[in-house]
Amino acid sequence: MENIAVIGAGVMGAGIAQVMAVAGCQVAAVDVDSEVLEQSKIEVELGRFGVRGAVERGKLTAQEADQALGRLSFTQDRSQAVAEADVVIEAVPERLDLKIRLFRELDAETPPHTILASNSSGFPVQALAAATNRPDKVIIWHWASPAPVMKLAEIVRCNDTSDETVAKVSELASRVGKNPVVIADAANVWGYVSNRVYFAMIQEARRVIQEGVATSEQVDQIMMDCFRWPSGPFGMIAGAGSGWKK
Ligand SMILES: NC(=O)c1ccc[n+]([C@@H]2O[C@H](COP(=O)([O-])OP(=O)(O)OC[C@H]3O[C@@H](n4cnc5c(N)ncnc54)[C@H](O)[C@@H]3O)[C@@H](O)[C@H]2O)c1
Repeated sequence: MENIAVIGAGVMGAGIAQVMAVAGCQVAAVDVDSEVLEQSKIEVELGRFGVRGAVERGKLTAQEADQALGRLSFTQDRSQAVAEADVVIEAVPERLDLKIRLFRELDAETPPHTILASNSSGFPVQALAAATNRPDKVIIWHWASPAPVMKLAEIVRCNDTSDETVAKVSELASRVGKNPVVIADAANVWGYVSNRVYFAMIQEARRVIQEGVATSEQVDQIMMDCFRWPSGPFGMIAGAGSGWKK
């Protein structure tokens, strides 16, 4: 099984680290903030989508939960965490300058075979690939919140991404229980398929409210009732930001 480092252990990183550890990978979750690491550790074990809850719901045995927790470490020491990583999954805040700097540093800190994947919500993979000397091994692996539950694996490749990298990440995503869909990079637009389509809907929902046609609560209720969605467009914004913890 792969050795995984997840960089950024916030809402997404903690869930991603959990999924990978449950699937049998050795995982180091890295964050610059020690309080986030403490909180993530609690979330992975005892949170709404954590492994103890999975045991209660019959999704994992108590032994599988213990073994997953045993494979997962939380650390501020990034260089040590990535030194033997086969795949790094970046989940730091959605700021391009931050991600580019991180990819440049990860390129220097990881072995040559390491795949550098980003959970960006919308930056072009080309921009991250260009920051490294291994553009063939850079890819977007976009997850949805809550990561332990949602099946999304929106995998974005650019011209530089090798077929081998695409195949490895797709196979890994399937193995950890997700549905990989490989799409092309769009250099001048923020967002892949999920967020571009979603934000188009949000724009229209805001227009409906501005026109005085309905309130945001009414829009949410109508969309849930009409399309059998678990949440309306505005509920989705609040839920994704908090990791659906409530
Ligand atoms: N929240 C969602 O629903 C969602 C869904 C899909 C993708 N994303 C994307 O995932 C990424 C992370 O989002 P999030 O919601 O988990 O954010 P978050 O703020 O909850 O977590 C980001 C974490 O990164 C840490 N961090 C910042 N700089 C760092 C560094 N240099 N090294 C290590 N850790 C660092 C922060 O301390 C923080 O804990 C973003 O790119 C976001 O767009 C978010």
